[in-house]
Amino acid sequence: EVRPIAVQGAMDMEVAYFLKQMGDYKTETFGSYHFYSGKIAGVPVVVSQTNIGMVNASASTTLLIEKYHPKAIINQGTAGGHDPALHKFDIVVGAKSINYGWFQSAHRDAGAGVDTGNWKVLTEPVEPDPELYKTAMSVADRYQHGKVVSGVIGTSDAWNRELDRIKELHDTLGTSAEEMETASVAEVAKTFNVPFLGIRILSNSELYAEDFDPKSADYCSEFVIEVIKEIESGV
Ligand code: 5AD
Repeated sequence: EVRPIAVQGAMDMEVAYFLKQMGDYKTETFGSYHFYSGKIAGVPVVVSQTNIGMVNASASTTLLIEKYHPKAIINQGTAGGHDPALHKFDIVVGAKSINYGWFQSAHRDAGAGVDTGNWKVLTEPVEPDPELYKTAMSVADRYQHGKVVSGVIGTSDAWNRELDRIKELHDTLGTSAEEMETASVAEVAKTFNVPFLGIRILSNSELYAEDFDPKSADYCSEFVIEVIKEIESGV
């Protein structure tokens, strides 16, 4: 049995480039989750469209693992910048991902207000497969649309646009960027012992009023294909 490399994207625009590169592929759908099997640069891949958010990402990842037995899972796509050093089109290779939406607040009396700075995140960051991570970083110089950095991907079912909230997350958790899928996939992959890596491109940065640019989705996919080729060349 040839085990494919799985590459995930939430939205149509985050899987489109892979489908174009595959040309011919087989489509299977379970519930609302689409899976596309084919080859990219001769490498067997399954493209998994997770749909948006942590629930969809987790459910579709479980199906992905059970039905396709991937030898690795790369979750990739768009994200919003948290690190002032990063701009639109820069790429974050996840040295960690964290579900920052699972927290407990300290008691405050009625009328005492909401203090997000004291919301204690209870989840531990999840680390990627070290070999996948190293491989991705080793091809950083092939990317031409910005820089590729190692960083922390923050996941929750939220899109933050308040600069103080973004700064708080960056200062307390070290987040480089935020999105809605990576950490949930990382946790499911870990449960099943499947090697995992998250790769996210800044499609927007509230810090610099850089609005969502859909071109970022293709740029990220292009880099991910370089990573896939490198994984395969090392085998
Ligand atoms: N905040 C949250 N999610 C974002 N995404 C892109 N930018 C952001 C952002 N600033 C991604 C999520 C989700 C979709 C809404 O876009 O991962 O799939």
